[in-house]
Amino acid sequence: MGSDQALPEFSQYHDLKDDEKILYHPISILSPPSARHRGARNMGVLLLFSMLCALGLYVVVVTADSARSTTLGLNAPSLLFKLPKSWAQYSPYFPVEEYGDPPQHCRVTQVNIIQRHGARYPTSGSAKMIVAALNKLLSVEEFTDDRLNFLKDYNYRLGENDLLPFGARESQLAGQVHFTRYKHLVSHGQLPYYQQSKILSASNIVAIAGFSIASHHVYNPSLSLIISEKLNNTLHAEMCPNAGTAIAQTSEWLSKYGPAIAERLNRHAPGANLTSTDVFGLLSLCPFESVSLNRLSSFCKLFSESEFQQFEYSGDLDKYYNTGYGQPLGPVQGVGYVNELLARLTGTPVRDNTQTNRTLDASPVTFPLNRTIYADFSHDNQMIAIYAAIGLFKQHTAPDPSFPNPKRNWLASHLVPFSARMVTEKLACGRRGEEFVRIFVNDAMQPLEFCGAGKDGLCTLRAFVESQAYARNDGNGDFEKCYE
Ligand SMILES: *[C@@H]1O[C@H](CO)[C@@H](O)[C@H](O)[C@H]1NC(C)=O
Ligand SMILES: *[C@@H]1O[C@H](CO)[C@@H](O)[C@H](O)[C@H]1NC(C)=O
Ligand SMILES: *[C@@H]1O[C@H](CO)[C@@H](O)[C@H](O)[C@H]1NC(C)=O
Ligand SMILES: *[C@@H]1O[C@H](CO)[C@@H](O)[C@H](O)[C@H]1NC(C)=O
Repeated sequence: MGSDQALPEFSQYHDLKDDEKILYHPISILSPPSARHRGARNMGVLLLFSMLCALGLYVVVVTADSARSTTLGLNAPSLLFKLPKSWAQYSPYFPVEEYGDPPQHCRVTQVNIIQRHGARYPTSGSAKMIVAALNKLLSVEEFTDDRLNFLKDYNYRLGENDLLPFGARESQLAGQVHFTRYKHLVSHGQLPYYQQSKILSASNIVAIAGFSIASHHVYNPSLSLIISEKLNNTLHAEMCPNAGTAIAQTSEWLSKYGPAIAERLNRHAPGANLTSTDVFGLLSLCPFESVSLNRLSSFCKLFSESEFQQFEYSGDLDKYYNTGYGQPLGPVQGVGYVNELLARLTGTPVRDNTQTNRTLDASPVTFPLNRTIYADFSHDNQMIAIYAAIGLFKQHTAPDPSFPNPKRNWLASHLVPFSARMVTEKLACGRRGEEFVRIFVNDAMQPLEFCGAGKDGLCTLRAFVESQAYARNDGNGDFEKCYE
């Protein structure tokens, strides 16, 4: 794990004060600095340039013009390889569909965004699995397949957990898209209210910077609240100690597809003794190394497209059985967020007896109800729990751990890729301004059949609130089961 080519440590920015945040508005490089911010901005330019030049890896090139373009964000940050969609939750962000403007007689009056961080290094658990598999491969003396020869002088250089430049760009683009799409809701007295679980702050800060950049720095919102993951927190999925895991289902599936791949690799790498678990680690190295190098990792070439589809199904099963519909105590973990969402949509105090922090939610400072844009930063598992609490992506039959349904729409890459987002829009329609709701997940409009939506995806606010009985009833007793 050489450090000679280390990537920028975005984590080092974690706990900066507000007035220091200007330092990493990446666009400062390109936009004309205003007199007021010139000093700070020049420092920022210097810092960024020295970081980027030293690395020679990555340059943020968003021009003011592209921020204005309405198609912005329809393209993922440029990767120098074809955008892979079979990398499950490690897929780079891509819009699943093209965002559709509201019907002509409606206008958006409020938006509620919940967003996952951009691409990051593997977690320490994933990294451990990857390194264990790599060490076996690297101990092999003679490979019998040329595709493995790159390993002769290979060095593993990935860090753990930290945001990658590629991920920063994903997050920043999200902020830009949101400003561009919803700028009619923004004014100096009405800036977005941002809160986050205490994770990957750098990702969230660049998302907020993206918003500011798209407004040509006219609007410079900041992170309003950071909530500890050790306490009551509606943005974190680890508050239900009795919830199970997806290990049984993912292990069953791995035992189906892993051995054949292990056998093939062991044939080409005699003595490596790779197991199915190692195979999973090596498969996951492909996405992780690709997003960190910004080019396709050599590990990707060791596997076929259909093997990546098998890998993807592992992620689909993991999300479904870990905090999704397949986990009896999964959806309840999304209830706190849904109740906060209902409070914002209806402009009434939060009513929740699950994982909300009642102190925070009772105060207009930490839980304002008079904003037009709310953005919360969270995790993939928590977003899955929220989708399930709401009733999105409901499955007729549970995914079979031994056989993927090729027509399934439960795809981790569509649900929670890096920088995934769910956006709940409140709309006012017609002369009387009747209130409606639409929901987008990664720009795909959700059918909301549970509250009577038609082709336009609109439910009346009232029908939507009524449809959320599971959340309004605090999970019908499920929350108590988290502790019993
Ligand atoms: C919202 O309410 C708070 C507290 O009453 C007030 O300080 C703030 O100015 C209001 N903000 C907007 C955008 O109306
Ligand atoms: C609730 O939030 C307040 C204010 O941040 C904090 O002091 C308190 O510890 C939190 N309590 C729980 C149980 O999360
Ligand atoms: C693979 O297994 C063989 C036979 O048990 C053993 O000699 C060898 O050291 C193992 N290789 C690795 C990399 O563990
Ligand atoms: C935290 O959540 C628990 C469980 O619902 C609840 O009993 C407690 O009152 C909450 N604490 C705060 C400060 O909201």
